[in-house]
Amino acid sequence: MDGTKEMGLRNVSSTCSISEMDDYDLSRLLDKPRLNIERQRSFDERSLSELSIGLTRGSYDNYETTHSPGGRSGFDTPASSARNSFEPHPMVAEAWEALRRSLVHFRGQPVGTIAAYDHASEEVLNYDQVFVRDFVPSALAFLMNGEPEIVKNFLLKTLQLQGWEKRIDRFKLGEGAMPASFKVLHDPVRKTDTIIADFGESAIGRVAPVDSGFWWIILLRAYTKSTGDLSLAETPECQKGMRLILTLCLSEGFDTFPTLLCADGCSMIDRRMGIYGYPIEIQALFFMALRCALSMLKHDAEGKECIERIVKRLHALSYHMRNYFWLDFQQLNDIYRYKTEEYSHTAVNKFNVIPDSIPDWVFDFMPTRGGYFIGNVSPARMDFRWFCLGNCIAILSSLATPEQSMAIMDLIEARWDELVGEMPLKIAYPAIESHEWKIVTGCDPKNTRWSYHNGGSWPVLLWLLTAACIKTGRPQIARRAIDLAETRLLKDSWPEYYDGTLGRFIGKQARKYQTWSIAGYLVAKMMLEDPSHLGMISLEEDKQMKPLIKRSSSWNC
Ligand code: GLC
Repeated sequence: MDGTKEMGLRNVSSTCSISEMDDYDLSRLLDKPRLNIERQRSFDERSLSELSIGLTRGSYDNYETTHSPGGRSGFDTPASSARNSFEPHPMVAEAWEALRRSLVHFRGQPVGTIAAYDHASEEVLNYDQVFVRDFVPSALAFLMNGEPEIVKNFLLKTLQLQGWEKRIDRFKLGEGAMPASFKVLHDPVRKTDTIIADFGESAIGRVAPVDSGFWWIILLRAYTKSTGDLSLAETPECQKGMRLILTLCLSEGFDTFPTLLCADGCSMIDRRMGIYGYPIEIQALFFMALRCALSMLKHDAEGKECIERIVKRLHALSYHMRNYFWLDFQQLNDIYRYKTEEYSHTAVNKFNVIPDSIPDWVFDFMPTRGGYFIGNVSPARMDFRWFCLGNCIAILSSLATPEQSMAIMDLIEARWDELVGEMPLKIAYPAIESHEWKIVTGCDPKNTRWSYHNGGSWPVLLWLLTAACIKTGRPQIARRAIDLAETRLLKDSWPEYYDGTLGRFIGKQARKYQTWSIAGYLVAKMMLEDPSHLGMISLEEDKQMKPLIKRSSSWNC
């Protein structure tokens, strides 16, 4: 515990935890727009103050009072339509209906939503399952609508699945592993429900979902924050679940970096896409899950050790990420001029990156103002691709400093055509083509250029962008993106993804009625309407976790 204080992270008692830890942040956010006034302003200039005008159409005046966690349950209609005097977009009601159609029940209780409700598709594959990562936007939508029960049921059900013995062939998986997805099997004759779960042993390519456990922890905090119900997170089962997930990541090994070493296909991008190594998506989720767990773990005998490890890792991880993954114009120029083959502690080019390996596109892509966390960093390898999810989570978790968060938003604005185009939002930029595509994807026909994970546009990412926009005080960017989505999503029956450099075409193999496209839209709408929802998915910067200043050199180790 003392260590916690010394390292500069807020110390939480075993009883109070989350609400105390973050509430003050949220109230500050709501009191006044969190704008960086030193920065030049963008088209988003008007930001939160304008947002408030937008909101007076309905809810701003009373949004302190309307945000009553857990107080809206029982409605079949979106809470917003009941609350506001203005008519919500017609898509909202349609989306709620579609979202409710995707509900999955286990012994009469809703426990999740299926990935896609697409009867027209010939191949169901595993789209009829409840995916952990896919359920997150559904869960947030239900929480925001005052319906926390399904989220609680989901958290408990997946926790139970974590307890299963997991094997792939003769190999036993780590105890803490969470499933990628599960399916409820109904037996109409015997009237029984059973569950099958996939921890990677059935998944295409046998990929392990490293992100599932992180999302589970993040969702547990969102549930707790939204309902004010600390009792779930405090149960011995949930405490153990968190510890097990983190034990998988915090154990000592041969690592020389605090980032988490992963196989390809370990996250939302669950096919070979050259993200093996230290992918930004996982590093950002790892950071966020560590911070969420820190706010929920009890300081009892078992929790204490875990907390100490978390605190140490957070410091090392934020230092590493903010320094070595961060790329802006200046940094790019520095790398371009790097010397190679430097030995010893004085090396500037620590990972021995050869400047010739910088791809041409990045010189055009990098705006004078703006920056982002690149895709991957390891010895002699920098993957300069932009990945949307990791950068948004970096903002939400405050892995990005306030300056870096602003720079990411600047980049999105400056490269709007490339990253948003006609349909928000590119999962990755740019696409890999030709020979490189053959080598990197193994000739994957689903991941051809500007399709699916290879530069495809995924509507689900809209909620992450919106949350990041609100957090950085730039809601206009989100509004623009939502406007774009509203021209197509319903008409196109909520596709999973779009193809093309501008995202104009419904994806080649995209499912229709993809649940997270539907839920992502709803969450984006609700957050923009009532920014206080942001608190459940965002963590304020820890003022004392600034490794670059005021700290002894031990922080660098
Ligand atoms: C695809 C996506 C994955 C998603 C799953 C279910 O496999 O790549 O991210 O979780 O479909 O929608």
